[in-house]
Amino acid sequence: MSVLEIRNLHATVGDTEILKGVNLTLRSGEIHAMMGPNGSGKSTLSYVIAGHPHYTITEGDILLDGESILDMQADERARAGIFLAFQYPVAVPGVSVANFLRTAVSNVRGYTEAEKNGNGNGSGVIGSNLMPMREFRRELNAKMTEFNVDSSFARRYLNDGFSGGEKKRTEVLQMAMLEPKFAILDESDSGLDIDALQVVSDGINKLATEKRGFLLITHYQRILNYVKPDFVSIFFGGRIVLTGGPEVAQMLEERGYKWVEEELVGGLVPA
Ligand SMILES: Nc1ncnc2c1ncn2[C@@H]1O[C@H](COP(=O)(O)OP(=O)(O)OP(=O)(O)O)[C@@H](O)[C@H]1O
Ligand SMILES: [Mg+2]
Repeated sequence: MSVLEIRNLHATVGDTEILKGVNLTLRSGEIHAMMGPNGSGKSTLSYVIAGHPHYTITEGDILLDGESILDMQADERARAGIFLAFQYPVAVPGVSVANFLRTAVSNVRGYTEAEKNGNGNGSGVIGSNLMPMREFRRELNAKMTEFNVDSSFARRYLNDGFSGGEKKRTEVLQMAMLEPKFAILDESDSGLDIDALQVVSDGINKLATEKRGFLLITHYQRILNYVKPDFVSIFFGGRIVLTGGPEVAQMLEERGYKWVEEELVGGLVPA
């Protein structure tokens, strides 16, 4: 079992503090949903966990199985098993989904590391040592079928001209290929039609084994009808102010966020 522990995390961008003491523990086998108003810092938290260089951590720590990952670059964190599905996936014209995934999978599974350590194919070019094409293709095809992604996607340029829903499906495929220990999904349900929501939810449920932990950032209770969270947290003003079960999502749906500020942040109820 793995544990990803975020301890009293403070982070700034420029002079502005955005994360103001986040405490959160994710464990494999658990789904943790996080809801919070626009601009409260949810995406910032996901970027900081994934190792985006734009943010400065001023206090606190992130521990993966007891070891701090703060000194690790984003690619090292990916190799350690941390995966982030972006709220706004970026298009990479010129790089096909298949090529992108082959490079990513090769990196995460250590093929490119072997090259750096001199155990590669001897070409001396870092990154030339990729997962063998035939093996990769076989796995990609199997996963595309399993996760309901049309095979034509493999040839398309990554996210280039993809609809919102197609991007989110592709992220699930990416997660299926990378098999992370912890997956952070930043609004993977936003903008999905009912069928796509079903596909994305089915994908998450298939991948939600005892070996994997999830942080599901969402605005709507809707996806939680398909994916059952163990915990639901309210993120407000740069930190988590309440953690409970699925009833928390229901409560937010009914009451919005105004009471959070009045009753939780105002200090009437301890966080
Ligand atoms: N690189 C940046 N430069 C300036 N401000 C930033 C940067 N990144 C985040 N912020 C600010 O930090 C705050 C939190 O943003 P963040 O995207 O984390 O919110 P969020 O909770 O994900 O919101 P949403 O629900 O709308 O996705 C916002 O006020 C945003 O403008
Ligand atoms: Mg966001």
